[in-house]
Amino acid sequence: MTGADPGLLPGAPQPADRDTDALRTRIADLLERARVRTRGLTEAVDETDLVTQHSALMSPLVWDLAHVGSQEELWLVRDVGGREPLRPEIDGLYDAFQHSRASRVELPLLGPAEARAYVAEVRDKALDTLGASPLHGRRLVDQGFAFGMIVQHEQQHDETMLATHQLRTGAPVLHAPPPAEPAAAPVAAEVLVPGGPFTMGTDTEPWALDNERPAHVVDLPAFWIDTVPVTNGAYAAFVDAGGYDDPRWWSERGWAHKNEAGLAAPQFWTRDGAGWWRRRFGVLEPVRADEPVCHVCFFEAEAYAAWVGKRLPTEAEWEKAARFDPATGRSRRFPWGDDDASPAHANLGQRHLRPAPVGAYPAGASPLGVHQLVGDVWEWTGSGWHPYPGFTVFPYPEYSQVFFGGDYRVLRGGSFGTDAAAIRGTFRNWDHPVRRQIFAGFRCARDADPAAGQQGG
Ligand code: AVJ
Ligand code: FE
Repeated sequence: MTGADPGLLPGAPQPADRDTDALRTRIADLLERARVRTRGLTEAVDETDLVTQHSALMSPLVWDLAHVGSQEELWLVRDVGGREPLRPEIDGLYDAFQHSRASRVELPLLGPAEARAYVAEVRDKALDTLGASPLHGRRLVDQGFAFGMIVQHEQQHDETMLATHQLRTGAPVLHAPPPAEPAAAPVAAEVLVPGGPFTMGTDTEPWALDNERPAHVVDLPAFWIDTVPVTNGAYAAFVDAGGYDDPRWWSERGWAHKNEAGLAAPQFWTRDGAGWWRRRFGVLEPVRADEPVCHVCFFEAEAYAAWVGKRLPTEAEWEKAARFDPATGRSRRFPWGDDDASPAHANLGQRHLRPAPVGAYPAGASPLGVHQLVGDVWEWTGSGWHPYPGFTVFPYPEYSQVFFGGDYRVLRGGSFGTDAAAIRGTFRNWDHPVRRQIFAGFRCARDADPAAGQQGG
């Protein structure tokens, strides 16, 4: 053999069978892991609960369940597998663009037993496709992309269903051990990210979605970024100092929204005497001061940042803090390096039903010492939802493209409810700036030279 990589040569030999087998096994495991989670989320409640709409912001759980199957059928059974539709008459019911979340409860949806049978039948056929399809060549299947996309899709809906669980009232039905206690919280509150170019986005992550592509160079001025997400304790100080009553800290739109929606603290918080309590998956408990704050909207994050004399990081700043390695100048896959996320690196995958206290994941820190960028809570950035230069739709416009330029802010890093299969250093999420039911918090940043941009002097 020569040293050349045959995979890069047109007409080169196909990947060794053992590699394809290993990839098929990995995909089958990831599909099964997603399904175990889906089952857990949908079997934790009774059938009445499954068809109930717990919030106008969410679908009934039974819709998410069958929608997961419907997407899997569209891509893996019909498109990649080339088979006839199993239930063409239900396509429209599970098309997210035809029916708002609030209206789905009124539809003639498959009932719980039918939905379960449907997703199981689709999965059988999808596994047949997996066994028969090449995993190279056509871009849709190259390196297992379509299968990876469907794994991510199911895990994303699992996180959505987890948010529905957080909104439902009643006795707790989900259980998980608490995360590890912090070894030692990072000493510095902020670190300086040096100015200069870095590579944002990716051309090489095989399962990266279209919006993460292409890789491109972004040149940023130096900035400071918090080493940990803003904690409940820090946020409570803002609340207790009257932050919600002082328009100085709020954008005009944020202030109007806060007043109209009656926001006075993070969602699920209540004050009891001197202290704050919260409802978390049916458990009422004291708010723990050293955990990242969760269930705040973009406008609340923006107001807190202004109160401490800072701002939210831009999306590019967040990604540079998470991926840039100053020793090599290279962008890494994750803050800790190029290895896939392990339980030592980050609080992901619903292993715990809460963000971990700050300092709990020293092995997950970036080279510059920024902690918990991945896992715990999604982090609001100051950036809107836009394509990268050179963006092309793949494989369908309704995932990313139709939302570009809308009233959204980018969130990064994933939460305790995000599976490792559905997060990367390049992964981009977005939501309306008023949303609070997602597992979102934030960290702050500031310009390295506060004089920059000031007039005169
Ligand atoms: C990328 C999380 C905004 O849940 O609305 C699921 C993911 N897209 N099904 C969403 C998604 C289609 C999407 N987010
Ligand atoms: Fe979906």
